[in-house]
Amino acid sequence: MSTPPLDMDAYWMPFTANRQFKKSPRLLTRADGMFFTDDHGRQVLDGIAGLWCVNAGHNRPRIVKAIQEQAAELDFAPPFQMGHPKAFELASRLAEIAPAGMNKVFFTNSGSESVETALKMALAYHRVRGEGQRTRLIGRERGYHGVNFGGVSVGGMVANRKMFGTLLSGVDHLRHTHDLARNAFSVGQPAHGAELADDLERMVALHDASTIAAVIVEPVSGSSGVLIPPQGYLQRLREICDKHGILLIFDEVITGFGRTGHPFAAQTFGVTPDLMTIAKGLTNGCVPMGAVLAKQSIHDTFMNGPDHLIEFFHGYTYSGHPLACAAGLATLDTYAEDGLLTRAGELQGYFAEQLHSLRGEPHVIDVRNIGLVGGVELTPRAGEPTKRAFDTFLDCWEQGVLIRTTGDILALSPPLIAGREHLDRMVDAIRTALRRLA
Ligand SMILES: Cc1ncc(COP(=O)(O)O)c(C=O)c1O
Repeated sequence: MSTPPLDMDAYWMPFTANRQFKKSPRLLTRADGMFFTDDHGRQVLDGIAGLWCVNAGHNRPRIVKAIQEQAAELDFAPPFQMGHPKAFELASRLAEIAPAGMNKVFFTNSGSESVETALKMALAYHRVRGEGQRTRLIGRERGYHGVNFGGVSVGGMVANRKMFGTLLSGVDHLRHTHDLARNAFSVGQPAHGAELADDLERMVALHDASTIAAVIVEPVSGSSGVLIPPQGYLQRLREICDKHGILLIFDEVITGFGRTGHPFAAQTFGVTPDLMTIAKGLTNGCVPMGAVLAKQSIHDTFMNGPDHLIEFFHGYTYSGHPLACAAGLATLDTYAEDGLLTRAGELQGYFAEQLHSLRGEPHVIDVRNIGLVGGVELTPRAGEPTKRAFDTFLDCWEQGVLIRTTGDILALSPPLIAGREHLDRMVDAIRTALRRLA
Protein backbone atom coordinates (compact mmCIF):
# COMPACT_ATOMS: atom_id res chain seq x y z
CA MET A 1 0.00 0.00 0.00
CA SER A 2 1.48 3.35 -0.96
CA THR A 3 1.36 6.32 1.41
CA PRO A 4 -0.97 9.11 0.28
CA PRO A 5 0.85 12.33 -0.67
CA LEU A 6 1.32 14.69 2.26
CA ASP A 7 -1.09 17.65 2.29
CA MET A 8 1.15 20.61 3.04
CA ASP A 9 -1.43 23.32 2.71
CA ALA A 10 -2.50 23.96 6.29
CA TYR A 11 0.84 24.23 8.08
CA TRP A 12 2.15 27.83 8.08
CA MET A 13 5.80 27.18 8.80
CA PRO A 14 7.87 29.39 11.14
CA PHE A 15 10.89 31.37 9.87
CA THR A 16 10.56 29.53 6.55
CA ALA A 17 10.18 30.49 2.91
CA ASN A 18 6.85 28.63 2.82
CA ARG A 19 6.26 28.75 -0.95
CA GLN A 20 9.79 27.62 -1.81
CA PHE A 21 9.63 24.85 0.79
CA LYS A 22 6.30 23.48 -0.37
CA LYS A 23 7.51 23.39 -3.97
CA SER A 24 10.60 21.49 -2.95
CA PRO A 25 10.10 20.03 0.55
CA ARG A 26 12.91 18.94 2.83
CA LEU A 27 11.32 16.45 5.20
CA LEU A 28 13.09 14.76 8.09
CA THR A 29 11.63 11.53 9.37
CA ARG A 30 14.20 10.02 11.78
CA ALA A 31 17.39 10.97 13.56
CA ASP A 32 20.22 9.11 15.23
CA GLY A 33 23.62 10.30 16.44
CA MET A 34 25.06 12.80 13.95
CA PHE A 35 22.51 12.07 11.22
CA PHE A 36 18.96 12.78 10.17
CA THR A 37 17.15 10.52 7.72
CA ASP A 38 14.94 12.25 5.16
CA ASP A 39 11.71 10.98 3.63
CA HIS A 40 13.67 9.39 0.77
CA GLY A 41 15.76 7.39 3.24
CA ARG A 42 18.81 9.60 2.64
CA GLN A 43 21.25 10.22 5.52
CA VAL A 44 21.83 13.91 6.22
CA LEU A 45 24.72 14.97 8.43
CA ASP A 46 23.53 17.40 11.11
CA GLY A 47 25.87 20.39 10.99
CA ILE A 48 23.79 22.55 13.30
CA ALA A 49 22.71 20.30 16.19
CA GLY A 50 19.14 20.50 14.97
CA LEU A 51 18.81 24.20 15.68
CA TRP A 52 21.74 24.74 18.06
CA CYS A 53 20.08 22.42 20.56
CA VAL A 54 20.84 18.70 20.08
CA ASN A 55 24.26 18.99 21.70
CA ALA A 56 24.55 15.30 22.64
CA GLY A 57 23.46 14.10 19.21
CA HIS A 58 20.14 12.51 18.34
CA ASN A 59 18.23 9.63 19.86
CA ARG A 60 20.26 9.24 23.05
CA PRO A 61 18.87 6.12 24.80
CA ARG A 62 19.03 7.53 28.32
CA ILE A 63 17.04 10.62 27.35
CA VAL A 64 14.49 8.68 25.30
CA LYS A 65 13.89 6.26 28.17
CA ALA A 66 13.57 9.05 30.75
CA ILE A 67 10.88 10.79 28.69
CA GLN A 68 8.96 7.57 28.08
CA GLU A 69 9.03 6.56 31.74
CA GLN A 70 8.10 10.02 32.95
CA ALA A 71 5.07 10.20 30.66
CA ALA A 72 3.74 7.02 32.26
CA GLU A 73 4.57 8.04 35.83
CA LEU A 74 3.57 11.73 36.21
CA ASP A 75 2.36 13.38 33.02
CA PHE A 76 1.71 16.81 34.49
CA ALA A 77 1.90 18.60 37.81
CA PRO A 78 0.67 22.17 38.31
CA PRO A 79 3.67 24.42 38.86
CA PHE A 80 1.83 27.19 40.76
CA GLN A 81 1.63 26.57 44.51
CA MET A 82 2.55 22.91 43.80
CA GLY A 83 5.71 21.09 42.85
CA HIS A 84 7.18 17.75 41.85
CA PRO A 85 10.57 16.35 42.87
CA LYS A 86 12.30 16.37 39.48
CA ALA A 87 11.91 20.15 39.05
CA PHE A 88 13.84 20.70 42.29
CA GLU A 89 16.40 18.09 41.35
CA LEU A 90 17.00 19.64 37.93
CA ALA A 91 17.32 23.14 39.41
CA SER A 92 19.98 21.88 41.84
CA ARG A 93 21.86 20.10 39.07
CA LEU A 94 21.87 23.25 36.95
CA ALA A 95 23.11 25.34 39.86
CA GLU A 96 26.04 22.90 40.19
CA ILE A 97 27.32 23.57 36.67
CA ALA A 98 26.35 27.26 36.49
CA PRO A 99 28.86 30.07 37.00
CA ALA A 100 29.60 30.51 40.72
CA GLY A 101 26.76 32.19 42.58
CA MET A 102 24.12 31.75 39.86
CA ASN A 103 22.23 29.26 41.93
CA LYS A 104 18.54 30.10 41.52
CA VAL A 105 16.61 28.63 38.61
CA PHE A 106 13.27 29.79 37.16
CA PHE A 107 11.83 27.42 34.52
CA THR A 108 10.25 28.46 31.22
CA ASN A 109 9.53 26.60 27.96
CA SER A 110 11.72 28.30 25.38
CA GLY A 111 14.48 30.78 24.82
CA SER A 112 11.99 33.52 24.04
CA GLU A 113 10.17 32.94 27.32
CA SER A 114 13.46 32.89 29.19
CA VAL A 115 14.28 36.32 27.77
CA GLU A 116 10.88 37.76 28.73
CA THR A 117 11.30 36.29 32.19
CA ALA A 118 14.79 37.74 32.67
CA LEU A 119 13.71 41.21 31.52
CA LYS A 120 10.71 41.17 33.87
CA MET A 121 12.88 39.87 36.71
CA ALA A 122 15.29 42.77 36.18
CA LEU A 123 12.53 45.37 36.23
CA ALA A 124 10.82 43.85 39.26
CA TYR A 125 14.13 43.46 41.11
CA HIS A 126 14.83 47.18 40.93
CA ARG A 127 11.28 48.00 41.92
CA VAL A 128 11.39 45.72 44.97
CA ARG A 129 14.63 47.43 46.02
CA GLY A 130 12.99 50.83 45.81
CA GLU A 131 14.55 51.86 42.49
CA GLY A 132 11.42 51.46 40.40
CA GLN A 133 12.52 54.29 38.12
CA ARG A 134 15.06 51.92 36.56
CA THR A 135 12.82 50.87 33.68
CA ARG A 136 15.07 51.24 30.68
CA LEU A 137 16.37 48.10 28.95
CA ILE A 138 19.46 48.11 26.76
CA GLY A 139 20.03 45.57 24.01
CA ARG A 140 22.47 45.53 21.12
CA GLU A 141 22.26 45.91 17.38
CA ARG A 142 22.25 42.51 15.68
CA GLY A 143 21.20 40.84 18.92
CA TYR A 144 18.70 37.97 18.77
CA HIS A 145 16.66 37.30 21.86
CA GLY A 146 13.76 35.31 20.50
CA VAL A 147 10.51 36.53 19.04
CA ASN A 148 8.31 37.81 21.85
CA PHE A 149 7.79 41.53 22.32
CA GLY A 150 10.44 42.07 24.98
CA GLY A 151 13.02 40.01 23.12
CA VAL A 152 12.30 41.69 19.79
CA SER A 153 12.49 45.10 21.45
CA VAL A 154 15.95 44.52 22.91
CA GLY A 155 16.98 42.52 19.85
CA GLY A 156 18.60 44.16 16.89
CA MET A 157 17.65 42.27 13.74
CA VAL A 158 15.71 44.56 11.48
CA ALA A 159 13.62 41.90 9.71
CA ASN A 160 12.39 40.67 13.10
CA ARG A 161 11.46 44.18 14.22
CA LYS A 162 10.16 46.24 11.36
CA MET A 163 6.74 44.59 10.95
CA PHE A 164 5.69 44.79 14.56
CA GLY A 165 5.02 48.38 15.44
CA THR A 166 6.70 50.37 18.16
CA LEU A 167 7.60 47.43 20.43
CA LEU A 168 8.52 48.17 24.07
CA SER A 169 9.19 51.78 24.91
CA GLY A 170 12.31 52.88 26.75
CA VAL A 171 14.69 50.52 24.98
CA ASP A 172 18.05 51.51 23.55
CA HIS A 173 20.79 49.58 21.76
CA LEU A 174 24.56 49.34 21.98
CA ARG A 175 26.36 49.19 18.65
CA HIS A 176 27.17 45.70 17.42
CA THR A 177 30.74 44.45 17.45
CA HIS A 178 30.96 43.16 13.88
CA ASP A 179 33.97 44.78 12.22
CA LEU A 180 35.24 43.11 9.06
CA ALA A 181 37.68 45.92 8.33
CA ARG A 182 39.67 45.22 11.50
CA ASN A 183 38.78 41.66 12.41
CA ALA A 184 38.10 39.57 9.28
CA PHE A 185 39.40 35.98 9.50
CA SER A 186 40.15 36.18 13.23
CA VAL A 187 40.71 32.79 14.78
CA GLY A 188 38.76 32.78 18.06
CA GLN A 189 38.12 36.11 19.73
CA PRO A 190 38.89 39.12 17.51
CA ALA A 191 41.51 41.56 18.75
CA HIS A 192 39.63 44.79 18.10
CA GLY A 193 36.48 46.23 19.57
CA ALA A 194 36.61 46.11 23.40
CA GLU A 195 36.01 49.87 23.34
CA LEU A 196 32.55 49.30 21.83
CA ALA A 197 31.41 48.37 25.34
CA ASP A 198 31.87 52.05 26.18
CA ASP A 199 28.63 52.63 24.29
CA LEU A 200 27.01 51.82 27.60
CA GLU A 201 28.67 54.92 29.08
CA ARG A 202 27.12 56.94 26.24
CA MET A 203 23.71 55.54 27.16
CA VAL A 204 24.33 56.46 30.78
CA ALA A 205 25.30 59.97 29.73
CA LEU A 206 22.13 60.23 27.65
CA HIS A 207 19.55 58.58 29.93
CA ASP A 208 21.26 58.62 33.35
CA ALA A 209 22.15 55.35 35.04
CA SER A 210 19.28 55.78 37.50
CA THR A 211 16.82 54.99 34.67
CA ILE A 212 18.55 51.87 33.35
CA ALA A 213 17.51 48.44 34.65
CA ALA A 214 19.57 46.01 32.60
CA VAL A 215 21.71 45.30 29.58
CA ILE A 216 21.17 42.09 27.65
CA VAL A 217 23.66 40.58 25.19
CA GLU A 218 24.48 37.19 23.77
CA PRO A 219 28.08 36.38 24.76
CA VAL A 220 28.38 34.98 21.21
CA SER A 221 25.61 36.04 18.82
CA GLY A 222 24.44 33.02 16.90
CA SER A 223 21.32 33.76 14.92
CA SER A 224 22.54 37.09 13.65
CA GLY A 225 25.60 35.53 12.11
CA VAL A 226 28.07 34.09 14.62
CA LEU A 227 29.58 37.25 16.09
CA ILE A 228 32.37 36.48 18.54
CA PRO A 229 32.98 39.03 21.32
CA PRO A 230 36.20 41.02 20.88
CA GLN A 231 38.85 40.36 23.50
CA GLY A 232 38.05 42.33 26.66
CA TYR A 233 34.60 43.46 25.48
CA LEU A 234 32.48 41.45 27.91
CA GLN A 235 34.81 42.29 30.81
CA ARG A 236 34.41 45.99 30.05
CA LEU A 237 30.62 45.68 29.83
CA ARG A 238 30.62 43.98 33.23
CA GLU A 239 32.73 46.76 34.76
CA ILE A 240 30.48 49.51 33.43
CA CYS A 241 27.35 47.70 34.65
CA ASP A 242 28.88 47.35 38.11
CA LYS A 243 29.89 50.99 38.21
CA HIS A 244 26.30 52.10 37.55
CA GLY A 245 24.23 49.41 39.32
CA ILE A 246 22.92 48.07 36.00
CA LEU A 247 22.13 44.35 35.79
CA LEU A 248 23.98 42.34 33.13
CA ILE A 249 21.98 39.61 31.41
CA PHE A 250 23.72 37.03 29.24
CA ASP A 251 21.47 35.29 26.75
CA GLU A 252 23.07 31.85 26.66
CA VAL A 253 20.29 30.09 24.76
CA ILE A 254 22.80 29.06 22.10
CA THR A 255 26.07 29.20 24.01
CA GLY A 256 24.86 27.18 27.00
CA PHE A 257 25.66 23.50 27.50
CA GLY A 258 29.14 23.19 26.14
CA ARG A 259 29.01 25.07 22.86
CA THR A 260 32.11 27.17 23.62
CA GLY A 261 34.11 24.58 25.57
CA HIS A 262 32.69 25.17 29.06
CA PRO A 263 29.20 24.52 30.37
CA PHE A 264 28.42 28.21 29.74
CA ALA A 265 30.10 30.98 27.76
CA ALA A 266 30.24 33.05 30.95
CA GLN A 267 32.85 30.54 32.13
CA THR A 268 34.69 30.50 28.79
CA PHE A 269 35.06 34.28 28.86
CA GLY A 270 35.48 34.60 32.64
CA VAL A 271 32.62 37.08 33.05
CA THR A 272 29.67 36.34 35.33
CA PRO A 273 26.37 38.05 34.56
CA ASP A 274 23.57 38.71 37.06
CA LEU A 275 20.95 36.80 35.10
CA MET A 276 21.37 34.19 32.42
CA THR A 277 18.84 32.82 29.96
CA ILE A 278 19.11 29.24 28.77
CA ALA A 279 17.01 26.76 26.71
CA LYS A 280 17.84 24.48 23.73
CA GLY A 281 20.66 22.22 25.01
CA LEU A 282 18.99 22.06 28.42
CA THR A 283 16.98 19.05 27.25
CA ASN A 284 19.12 18.26 24.20
CA GLY A 285 16.24 19.72 22.21
CA CYS A 286 14.01 16.75 23.06
CA VAL A 287 11.29 18.52 25.06
CA PRO A 288 10.75 22.29 25.01
CA MET A 289 12.29 23.89 28.08
CA GLY A 290 14.09 27.05 29.07
CA ALA A 291 15.21 28.68 32.30
CA VAL A 292 16.60 31.82 33.84
CA LEU A 293 19.52 31.43 36.21
CA ALA A 294 19.74 34.22 38.77
CA LYS A 295 22.27 35.25 41.35
CA GLN A 296 21.31 34.42 44.90
CA SER A 297 21.21 38.11 45.82
CA ILE A 298 18.64 38.88 43.13
CA HIS A 299 16.42 36.03 44.22
CA ASP A 300 16.76 36.99 47.88
CA THR A 301 15.68 40.56 47.18
CA PHE A 302 12.26 39.21 46.22
CA MET A 303 11.91 37.12 49.37
CA ASN A 304 10.31 39.73 51.60
CA GLY A 305 6.83 40.46 52.93
CA PRO A 306 4.48 37.93 54.53
CA ASP A 307 5.31 34.29 53.81
CA HIS A 308 1.95 33.46 52.24
CA LEU A 309 2.27 36.07 49.47
CA ILE A 310 3.52 35.26 45.98
CA GLU A 311 6.86 37.04 45.51
CA PHE A 312 7.08 37.21 41.67
CA PHE A 313 3.89 37.37 39.63
CA HIS A 314 5.16 35.42 36.68
CA GLY A 315 5.25 31.83 35.43
CA TYR A 316 3.92 29.47 32.78
CA THR A 317 1.50 26.52 32.92
CA TYR A 318 4.34 24.35 31.67
CA SER A 319 7.16 25.81 33.81
CA GLY A 320 9.17 22.82 35.04
CA HIS A 321 7.00 20.33 33.13
CA PRO A 322 7.68 16.77 34.33
CA LEU A 323 8.63 15.52 30.85
CA ALA A 324 11.03 18.40 30.35
CA CYS A 325 12.57 17.90 33.79
CA ALA A 326 13.05 14.18 33.14
CA ALA A 327 14.63 14.98 29.77
CA GLY A 328 16.81 17.67 31.38
CA LEU A 329 18.13 15.36 34.09
CA ALA A 330 18.89 12.60 31.57
CA THR A 331 20.55 15.17 29.31
CA LEU A 332 22.83 16.41 32.09
CA ASP A 333 23.75 12.78 32.87
CA THR A 334 24.54 12.17 29.20
CA TYR A 335 26.65 15.33 28.96
CA ALA A 336 28.58 14.32 32.09
CA GLU A 337 29.05 10.70 31.03
CA ASP A 338 30.44 11.67 27.62
CA GLY A 339 32.39 14.74 28.78
CA LEU A 340 30.44 16.87 26.32
CA LEU A 341 30.40 20.12 28.28
CA THR A 342 34.11 20.56 27.64
CA ARG A 343 34.52 18.63 24.39
CA ALA A 344 34.18 21.71 22.16
CA GLY A 345 37.36 23.00 23.79
CA GLU A 346 39.21 19.87 22.67
CA LEU A 347 37.85 20.00 19.12
CA GLN A 348 38.00 23.71 18.50
CA GLY A 349 41.60 23.78 17.23
CA TYR A 350 40.88 21.20 14.55
CA PHE A 351 37.51 22.75 13.72
CA ALA A 352 39.10 26.20 13.36
CA GLU A 353 41.77 24.83 11.03
CA GLN A 354 39.22 23.18 8.77
CA LEU A 355 36.86 26.11 8.78
CA HIS A 356 39.56 28.68 8.05
CA SER A 357 40.67 26.60 5.08
CA LEU A 358 37.63 28.16 3.38
CA ARG A 359 39.48 31.47 3.27
CA GLY A 360 40.20 32.15 -0.38
CA GLU A 361 37.21 30.16 -1.67
CA PRO A 362 34.79 32.07 -3.92
CA HIS A 363 32.68 34.78 -2.22
CA VAL A 364 34.16 34.22 1.27
CA ILE A 365 34.84 37.53 3.04
CA ASP A 366 35.19 36.24 6.59
CA VAL A 367 35.51 33.06 8.61
CA ARG A 368 35.03 33.14 12.38
CA ASN A 369 34.89 30.53 15.10
CA ILE A 370 34.81 29.75 18.79
CA GLY A 371 34.34 26.36 20.43
CA LEU A 372 32.15 24.37 18.06
CA VAL A 373 30.49 27.37 16.42
CA GLY A 374 31.59 28.58 13.02
CA GLY A 375 30.50 31.38 10.72
CA VAL A 376 31.39 31.93 7.06
CA GLU A 377 30.36 35.28 5.62
CA LEU A 378 29.80 35.63 1.88
CA THR A 379 29.57 38.68 -0.37
CA PRO A 380 25.89 39.11 -1.16
CA ARG A 381 24.86 38.60 -4.77
CA ALA A 382 24.15 42.00 -6.36
CA GLY A 383 20.47 42.86 -5.98
CA GLU A 384 19.69 39.56 -4.24
CA PRO A 385 20.70 39.76 -0.60
CA THR A 386 20.65 36.39 1.26
CA LYS A 387 20.21 34.36 -1.96
CA ARG A 388 23.83 33.23 -2.28
CA ALA A 389 23.83 31.84 1.26
CA PHE A 390 20.43 30.22 0.73
CA ASP A 391 21.66 28.56 -2.47
CA THR A 392 24.70 27.28 -0.56
CA PHE A 393 22.36 25.84 2.05
CA LEU A 394 20.31 24.08 -0.66
CA ASP A 395 23.45 22.75 -2.32
CA CYS A 396 24.74 21.37 0.99
CA TRP A 397 21.35 19.76 1.60
CA GLU A 398 21.64 18.06 -1.80
CA GLN A 399 25.06 16.82 -0.69
CA GLY A 400 23.52 15.42 2.50
CA VAL A 401 24.74 18.05 4.94
CA LEU A 402 22.48 20.35 6.96
CA ILE A 403 23.88 23.82 7.61
CA ARG A 404 22.14 27.07 8.56
CA THR A 405 22.14 30.54 7.09
CA THR A 406 21.29 33.99 8.30
CA GLY A 407 21.56 36.82 5.83
CA ASP A 408 24.59 35.97 3.71
CA ILE A 409 26.32 34.14 6.53
CA LEU A 410 26.62 30.36 6.83
CA ALA A 411 26.61 28.91 10.32
CA LEU A 412 27.83 25.59 11.68
CA SER A 413 27.18 24.36 15.24
CA PRO A 414 27.53 20.58 15.13
CA PRO A 415 26.46 18.27 17.93
CA LEU A 416 29.28 18.08 20.47
CA ILE A 417 29.72 14.36 19.74
CA ALA A 418 31.04 15.20 16.26
CA GLY A 419 34.14 13.37 15.07
CA ARG A 420 36.83 14.93 12.89
CA GLU A 421 35.40 13.12 9.87
CA HIS A 422 32.06 14.86 10.40
CA LEU A 423 33.66 18.28 10.67
CA ASP A 424 35.67 17.58 7.50
CA ARG A 425 32.53 16.63 5.64
CA MET A 426 30.67 19.79 6.66
CA VAL A 427 33.49 22.03 5.51
CA ASP A 428 33.95 20.04 2.28
CA ALA A 429 30.25 20.39 1.46
CA ILE A 430 30.46 24.16 1.87
CA ARG A 431 33.62 24.29 -0.25
CA THR A 432 32.01 22.22 -3.02
CA ALA A 433 28.89 24.40 -2.97
CA LEU A 434 30.84 27.66 -3.10
CA ARG A 435 32.98 26.47 -6.00
CA ARG A 436 30.00 25.63 -8.17
CA LEU A 437 27.68 28.48 -7.24
CA ALA A 438 27.62 31.82 -8.95
C1 LIG B 1 20.28 33.88 21.86
C2 LIG B 1 18.88 33.39 21.68
N1 LIG B 1 17.93 33.81 22.50
C3 LIG B 1 16.66 33.40 22.39
C4 LIG B 1 16.30 32.50 21.41
C5 LIG B 1 14.87 32.07 21.27
O1 LIG B 1 14.70 30.77 21.62
P1 LIG B 1 13.34 30.01 21.23
O2 LIG B 1 13.33 29.87 19.76
O3 LIG B 1 13.45 28.72 21.99
O4 LIG B 1 12.22 30.85 21.74
C6 LIG B 1 17.27 32.03 20.54
C7 LIG B 1 16.92 31.06 19.47
O5 LIG B 1 17.69 30.75 18.59
C8 LIG B 1 18.59 32.50 20.65
O6 LIG B 1 19.54 32.11 19.81
